[in-house]
Amino acid sequence: MGLWTRRKFFLTSLAGSAAAGATSMLAKTPLAKGSELASGKIPTPSAASGKRPVIISSANGLHAIGHGMEVLLKGGDTLDAVVAAVTIVEDDPNDTSVGYGGLPNEDGETELDASVMHGPTRRAGSVASVRRIKNVSLLAKTVMERTNHVMIVGEGARRFAVDEGFIDASLATEKSRLAWLAWKASTSVNWRPGTDSPEWKERAAGLFDTPEKQSWRAEIEQLVAHPPTGTINCLAVNEKGEISGTTTTSGLAWKIAGRVGDSPIIGAGLYVDGEVGAAGSTGKGEENIKICGGHTIVEMMRQGKSPTEACLEALHRIARNYKNDKKRLSTFHIFFYALNVDGVYGSASLWRNTYDRSKHSSYAVHDGGEARLMECTPYFDEIGGDE
Ligand code: GLY
Repeated sequence: MGLWTRRKFFLTSLAGSAAAGATSMLAKTPLAKGSELASGKIPTPSAASGKRPVIISSANGLHAIGHGMEVLLKGGDTLDAVVAAVTIVEDDPNDTSVGYGGLPNEDGETELDASVMHGPTRRAGSVASVRRIKNVSLLAKTVMERTNHVMIVGEGARRFAVDEGFIDASLATEKSRLAWLAWKASTSVNWRPGTDSPEWKERAAGLFDTPEKQSWRAEIEQLVAHPPTGTINCLAVNEKGEISGTTTTSGLAWKIAGRVGDSPIIGAGLYVDGEVGAAGSTGKGEENIKICGGHTIVEMMRQGKSPTEACLEALHRIARNYKNDKKRLSTFHIFFYALNVDGVYGSASLWRNTYDRSKHSSYAVHDGGEARLMECTPYFDEIGGDE
């Protein structure tokens, strides 16, 4: 369905919803707590009018954006606020798409990408393919603040981090290592018990040998079958209308060593213009790089589109790249997030569902009360995204 057809569809849905007394797509910032995600009661709309300060992120930042809001409420800098929020996710061993515990590349090495943009000073910093340094959003900020460069990658970025006092340590956790071994076993007979073993047909033989590992099994099997491109994008505007953003990720699970996604690409995984707003993305970075999604969305907002409309335009360009072929498009997931300097925010997803297919795609919002999840506006109102 093309964008304009979709708009017509939304308007039709709105009329129907209003008549049925359902939540309006354009209702103003309705409240919902994270726990409501499971019950399916997440509000759908983006804010119709702004409120400042506000901080938004991909759904995996729900537990973290409150820390960013604390920085904003104390009068802190907007970039400090978003970095404070995503650092919590980078440090979290249970988020397998970001920082410590992020799923590794095909060689078993976790490689991280990140970018930052600071609206008030119009500066940017980024790092890509960084090994052994977990807080890469702060590292990107350090590139911005302490060098004459915008982007540093690979071994050079790791050495720069060490020189700047960052801790060099393995990013693997028991869970990420086990997930990698399960993926290896799924791809090669050489990483399974031999033909002389009673377990030779069992791909995961011996891997899930403790109750804790057993408790991870379903999740790991999902990660092996559908390698995720989870990430966190976080955007914040303060009371004065100053705006910044960051995106940080371990990228596509099981990627070829050295693969870089959209997260560290200024204009794709992140873009901020202090006069207009900010935008970022999670999901399959290759698709975003081809349409410069972050920059596209900010330019659309400059031309008067709402954040949600601008995100839908970016998805329209991705769908167009595949001539709207839903079969091909359904092989991946992608999400966009946008916030303008007035505090109006929105998000759109290519498909209605999250990675695990059972829930509506959502993003996290904090505007002073409590962090809550909001539904992303789907480009295709169907279940999709096999990766
Ligand atoms: N969007 C994250 C990645 O593709 O690496």
